[in-house]
Amino acid sequence: MGEKKQVWDRSRKGTGEVVLEEWVARALGTEGSYESARYFRGVQSVVLALGLAAVVLGTEPSIAPRHGSLLLAISYAVLGLFALEYWVRLVYAPALLRAREELSPAMLRLIWVVSVGGIADLLAWLPFLIALVMAPHPFDAQIYGALWILKLGRLAPRIGLLGRVVRHARQPLLAVFSAFLTILLIAATLGYLLERTQQPQTFGSIPKSLWWAITTLTTTGYGDAVPVTTFGRIMGGAVMVCGIFLFALWAGILATEFAQEMRRQDFLRTWDLVAKVPYFKGASAAAIAEVVRLLKPAEAAAGAVVMRRGDPGDAMYFLVEGEVEIQIRPEPVILGPGSFFGEMALLTGAPRTATVVARRRCILLLLDIVHFRELAATRPELLSAISEEAERRGSQTRAMSSVG
Ligand code: CMP
Repeated sequence: MGEKKQVWDRSRKGTGEVVLEEWVARALGTEGSYESARYFRGVQSVVLALGLAAVVLGTEPSIAPRHGSLLLAISYAVLGLFALEYWVRLVYAPALLRAREELSPAMLRLIWVVSVGGIADLLAWLPFLIALVMAPHPFDAQIYGALWILKLGRLAPRIGLLGRVVRHARQPLLAVFSAFLTILLIAATLGYLLERTQQPQTFGSIPKSLWWAITTLTTTGYGDAVPVTTFGRIMGGAVMVCGIFLFALWAGILATEFAQEMRRQDFLRTWDLVAKVPYFKGASAAAIAEVVRLLKPAEAAAGAVVMRRGDPGDAMYFLVEGEVEIQIRPEPVILGPGSFFGEMALLTGAPRTATVVARRRCILLLLDIVHFRELAATRPELLSAISEEAERRGSQTRAMSSVG
């Protein structure tokens, strides 16, 4: 029998260790919906903003001489925190990369070190520290704190979306870019032909007139190079109009792709949430895709009133995470993940039978009345499961209130 590879084995750890590891994985993980992850992100945003402000203000001659030591102290503190964060991420990399449990802890750590996030985290402290040791004055080292901006990639996860948008839209973007280059060269050539005698300094060769062409085509027009002949000016006007047209096209392509990418991401997120609701388990991929289209993710903070007794029913909710309290007499009912509520008013058309309050932060899937009807028509088995439960709840509420 071959030797078993050493893997990140949770079974060999103590309970405390596993709990800590789970907490760190949640707080530092990319799944930002956990409470701890949100707090961590909030704290890190403040630390990042403070650190960057200290670095930027440290270069300002009107501020640095008076507040230099304070700014330096802030920079050191931020540096220390980011170095600590790097160490924690390195130690807990196996827990953070849990999807790849078949690999050894050392390999998982190496994967994290060479990942984009790992390199950004390393750049947040190593260059600063090296410069502190090497530079004659700490203020010279402080400038390496500008690399902290790389941390923004993790704080704003949707920043990665930009790369995907450009990748997906590269064909039309390249087409517009080719048109841009063509017009640029034609404009520079015409500028050279029309203006070279009057302005040999600015338009004396095609490379020289390219500067005018690019500032005009991008409609920046610094005014340092302008055509003076009539035909040169007419051509300049035409180049500006072409510039506006090309940039409008570029913006349109990017905006469309951006919106599509956001929709794709929302679809995937909703899909993940729907997969956690037992009522949709066992449904085919096509049926789930249909359900995902109709449901909308929603959140409720702890203590928030999700619906009030007596209000008209406009939507029902599936509870993915958290806990809600159905305030009925004499005893409230607590519902946990996987359950639904708010269905009775949709089924009967009567007002809400109870007030529902989130006991903890809840992640919900909202099904509005229009989509409820659509889903009821396409998936009658789901409707009958919901109706059965509503029936049971109705009689329970009646029985309880008669006792109360
Ligand atoms: P609705 O009447 O639309 O709004 C309040 C919701 O509370 C109701 O739908 C049910 O989903 C839920 N509800 C009412 N009574 C009970 C009960 N006895 N057990 C669980 N949920 C209930």
